[in-house]
Amino acid sequence: MRVAVLGAGSVGREVIRALMERPDTLRAADGPAMVLAGIAVRDIARAVAAGMPEALLTDAPAHLVASPDTDVIVELMGGDEPARTLIAVALAAGKPVVTANKHVIAHHGAELEAAARRNGTPFRFEAAVGGGIPVLGPIAADLAANELHAIRGIVNGTTNFILTAMRFDGRPYADVLADAKVAGYAEADPSGDVEGHDAANKLVILVRLAFGQWLDPASIQRAPSRSGADPGLPGITGVSLPDIEAAADQNLAIKLVAAAHRTPDGIVASVLPSAVSLDLPLGRTDGVLNRIEVDGTPIGSVAFSGHGAGGAATSSAVLADLMAVGRQGGSTWAGRSAAASHKAAIAPSPVEAFIGPSGTAYPVIR
Ligand code: HSE
Repeated sequence: MRVAVLGAGSVGREVIRALMERPDTLRAADGPAMVLAGIAVRDIARAVAAGMPEALLTDAPAHLVASPDTDVIVELMGGDEPARTLIAVALAAGKPVVTANKHVIAHHGAELEAAARRNGTPFRFEAAVGGGIPVLGPIAADLAANELHAIRGIVNGTTNFILTAMRFDGRPYADVLADAKVAGYAEADPSGDVEGHDAANKLVILVRLAFGQWLDPASIQRAPSRSGADPGLPGITGVSLPDIEAAADQNLAIKLVAAAHRTPDGIVASVLPSAVSLDLPLGRTDGVLNRIEVDGTPIGSVAFSGHGAGGAATSSAVLADLMAVGRQGGSTWAGRSAAASHKAAIAPSPVEAFIGPSGTAYPVIR
């Protein structure tokens, strides 16, 4: 199986390293050998200096997608275009795609799903949610016998890392964000993390698999309400140290929580900085860890946790998807029926709130 990797950022580098150094360990007993057939990067000279094999490098990802010498495309460039078109072209040509690109799936998922289904091309994206945590496959396949009602969780490692360092070390927000970038947790444009866009994209993907409906990511509420005239700021951008300290005094931790549940009228979904009881595992999920909780019948509650960001952890999910392609494992939605095009989410109704010294109203989760 000749694999083309598009993008050599923090995840791409780890995937390339594994394909070069330990291809035998990635070969399923019933699957083909994996061969790294090409790497698309923005800057070839920089990639060569970083130790990548010059003979495999190109700055023309479309050539690798179109090449008769590649069998599978691993898209790890991130962002909207050209990733969206490259994925769509590969799927239309019957070439399986593995990606970690939550933005593209959340915004163009319905169209890409239709393209993949049209000719039965595998499209896998486990790495798009929860980094290395196996969560999409389990929701789609292992929980397929359930009716799922609700999902909630911490799905952005960067913001959880920042909030945790603010709480335990009293460090200012901007200072910790710089660390998250160096660790390879943050997006190229970290406003996607701190304003809650990244978590909203992941929630769209979770909802698609759990509830069979694509949501419009822009319709997901990301800003808390606030006392006074000013509206709340999106994601964690309005979370202050005094708010975190006052919450801790009440046995609460401020966390960016993505949540969705089904109602007869549609899907209620939000990504809000919330005050989570420290008595709950969710409130004690710290650092770069993510945790996703799913409620269903007959399973009850089930949770998935682990490293939610970073190249090494995320490469685990990408490589497992590649192995699944090798053994004809189909798409991430497994046998689930096709999901309809993107619909607006319903905003949540007001619940008990913790009002921080800044005036921000954090929904309480106990
Ligand atoms: N920037 C993302 C995060 C990377 O911090 O969770 C993993 O999707």
